[in-house]
Amino acid sequence: MIEISGLTKLYGDNAVVNDVSFTVEPRSVTAIVGTSGSGKTTLMRMINRMTEPTHGRILIDGQDNRSLPAHELRRRIGYVIQNHGLFPHRTVAENIATVPGLLGWDRERIEARVRELLSLFQLDPAQYGPRYPHELSGGQQQRVGVARALAAEPNILLMDEPFGALDPIIRAKAQADLLDIQKRFGTTIIFVTHDMEEAIHMGDRIAVMDDGRLLQYDTPAQILARPATPFVEELIGASERPFRFLSLGKVADMVEEGSAAGTPIASATSRRDALAELLWSGREAAPVIAERGGAALGIVRRARLIAEAARPA
Ligand SMILES: Nc1ncnc2c1ncn2[C@@H]1O[C@H](COP(=O)(O)OP(=O)(O)OP(=O)(O)O)[C@@H](O)[C@H]1O
Ligand SMILES: [Mg+2]
Repeated sequence: MIEISGLTKLYGDNAVVNDVSFTVEPRSVTAIVGTSGSGKTTLMRMINRMTEPTHGRILIDGQDNRSLPAHELRRRIGYVIQNHGLFPHRTVAENIATVPGLLGWDRERIEARVRELLSLFQLDPAQYGPRYPHELSGGQQQRVGVARALAAEPNILLMDEPFGALDPIIRAKAQADLLDIQKRFGTTIIFVTHDMEEAIHMGDRIAVMDDGRLLQYDTPAQILARPATPFVEELIGASERPFRFLSLGKVADMVEEGSAAGTPIASATSRRDALAELLWSGREAAPVIAERGGAALGIVRRARLIAEAARPA
């Protein structure tokens, strides 16, 4: 658990983070969103003390984050900086091995960990381990940046726009890989993004920052249903709100009895994608099948999906 209370950072008279308080549950994913210059990076850097706060405090599992020397704290918290920040003169394998090396892991354990992480991020260890960062695509560099941050099995992972430069398809894959890894290791993740879609998809909670202040800290569903201020509402994007609501749930939650013709939709499909499919194929309803095994479960109706997208009462 990470408890942030009254956190303030002044540069001169300028409060770039202004009296921010919130609590992050263990094993959860928190997305920090907000406009450029709103204090997102500064807020995150105070958690691992790359930046020291002017006022306030941060407790990690009940312990003040100033009770450890800063360099030790940083080894225990994974950090992915904006634009990956790989060491250019070290190979991919050496980059990933950095913190385990500092922690004095033996060679075999480090090599095994490097192989495991590269495989998890869909990079063949034999092929990519010996390469240098400039020999990778931008998307591969970002994945190695995340792998490096995870190398020493941190309980906490901080990520500053980890997928910023990725094209939509690779980005979706990288997001899915990260969520798998997060579930597998139970990592607590705090990440910054400019992309509301990404925040809603990945975040258990979303923290909205504006001009150093935390405007709202809540679940994606609550932020969509009850934006705390006009700014939050604007950030969500008024015209996209119905679709964002739909993307929160799966077709599995809306299955009804009945029969329908045409290509079936898998139960794990998002409601949003299901509505798009029904509109695109001009159908009132589609059969729904189980994600695994393909058993027939019933149907999903277009009208029901549209009703679901409506403003909550
Ligand atoms: N070392 C510093 N000295 C003075 N001002 C700083 C310093 N670091 C950051 N700032 C200012 O603090 C404010 C918040 O910066 P920060 O990097 O946290 O914003 P951000 O929300 O991460 O923005 P972006 O989305 O562009 O990355 C900015 O106005 C920035 O200019
Ligand atoms: Mg930033």
